[in-house]
Amino acid sequence: MIETIATTPYDDQKPGTSGLRKKVPHFQQPNYAANFIQSIFDALPLDGGETLVIGGDGRFYNREVILMAIRMAAGNGYGRVVVGQNGILSTPAASNLIRKRGASGGIILSASHNPGGPNGDFGIKYNAANGGPAPERITEKIYEASKSISRYRVWTSTAPDISKLGETKLGDMVVEVVDPVADYAALMETLFDFQKIRDLIASGFGIRFDAMHAVTGPYATEILVNRLGASPDSVVNAVPMEDFGGGHPDPNAVHAKDLIDALMAANGPDFGAASDGDGDRNLIVGKGIVVSPSDSLAVLAANAHLAPGYARGIAGVARSMPTSQAADRVAEKRGIGIYETPTGWKFFGNLLDAGKVTICGEESAGTGSDHVREKDGVWAVLLWLNILAERRESVQAIMESHWAEFGRNFYQRHDYEEIDSKAANGLMESLRDRLASMAGQRFGTLVVSEADDFSYKDPIDGSVATSQGVRIVFSGGSRIVYRLSGTGTKGATLRVYIERFEADPAKHALAPKEALNELIDTADVIGEIRKRTGRTEPDVIT
Ligand code: G1P
Ligand code: ZN
Repeated sequence: MIETIATTPYDDQKPGTSGLRKKVPHFQQPNYAANFIQSIFDALPLDGGETLVIGGDGRFYNREVILMAIRMAAGNGYGRVVVGQNGILSTPAASNLIRKRGASGGIILSASHNPGGPNGDFGIKYNAANGGPAPERITEKIYEASKSISRYRVWTSTAPDISKLGETKLGDMVVEVVDPVADYAALMETLFDFQKIRDLIASGFGIRFDAMHAVTGPYATEILVNRLGASPDSVVNAVPMEDFGGGHPDPNAVHAKDLIDALMAANGPDFGAASDGDGDRNLIVGKGIVVSPSDSLAVLAANAHLAPGYARGIAGVARSMPTSQAADRVAEKRGIGIYETPTGWKFFGNLLDAGKVTICGEESAGTGSDHVREKDGVWAVLLWLNILAERRESVQAIMESHWAEFGRNFYQRHDYEEIDSKAANGLMESLRDRLASMAGQRFGTLVVSEADDFSYKDPIDGSVATSQGVRIVFSGGSRIVYRLSGTGTKGATLRVYIERFEADPAKHALAPKEALNELIDTADVIGEIRKRTGRTEPDVIT
């Protein structure tokens, strides 16, 4: 029976860069999750009988919300729910299922790389029929609906057992519990030369994949170990845990330090990788070298044709604005399109749907292609392995020859976390106020050539996104970008992105910190970071 339950609105259910993210106790407030899920349904043109995909990264509170979402789907007239066994689906696997099953959309429960557990983070995100994060016109509608919600609809009986594969019914709705890995692994087999990668691994090429006790454990084990022949101990932290083993499932130099240390050892493996909470990010590490995500995007774009799924070449590349311009150099040389979008995967969807681009990436350890509509950590690892299997060179050698051919974009991102929101907003406002007078100003040897607040007009549907980050560009092309995070759950996070292009191969071996020295100091001078936030050092440098 469908029950209609009275509720009252919360005023803070505005989705950010990637869905609604809050602390678990915040989500545990009465009806908080139910309100948001009902607001999603209320924002959609549902006719009844649609298919909805539901899954999450297995973090604390996943199960409760998934069971509620299934009952609410039945209460709102869906015909079928496809849910990962035990509620598990990596974000790219969910995107694949939405597309493959012709679903009208999907609900993904995740807070990505943010920590989990009873006091950790939680999130709910809606993806549309193309498998990608809902565009802003939909997230705006969801937010509007959440502000005036007065009831939600739910099927009264308890949800079926989601630990057992197969179909059951909840009222008229079919609940189909699927293996979270099977369809995804099958898709990967269509894109990559598994035999070649198997041969590479069999030749003694050592790999280490760190699943960070998050969702990619089962995916990496099935693909790397069972299908590609890697030894079982090459997948570490493979068991997903509700609190990620107390860790922070963000594949960067701070939280994936063990992996990086292993790859820096002389007798360590040849290739290392890690993914995040929900499996959409990737960190690539070679023996003795950490590959910056922006460089990884450029290398994948330049070499994708070596994998069968991209043998005909790629249509174009898209990157988020703060991502380094390394990929632009590949696109220019190869004569393919390059698009610069605001931060967040949702801005790539239209370009991918229209066939304008094949590969997309963000500096925040996200790369993906038109095979789904999310970034995809395991996909990036497999494309790297396919390239390595074809080229039979080390990661270091591939990076050096890439820089020799295209030049090197030295790059760092400095994050100042949990700073006072007022101070953060003041800093951004002050930058915006000074934009008009910035051009021509000199800072040491650097002269500002342009300064703006990035806005983007989607070339496909004409929608406009404004205030997407302050860009200070210097003559010669070096850049400093300032923006506030849209995924944090406490205070504000200031991200400062610093980039300098170097054509001279004799200077490519410099450490990024050295190469960016003057820009790093200038970022503080222009942004007044110390003065306004009291911080002398960033919390994380990636
Ligand atoms: C961060 C990243 C961004 C990514 C998003 C979701 O968003 O910077 O590239 O798309 O997480 O994974 P931010 O916190 O900067 O808004
Ligand atoms: Zn993620």
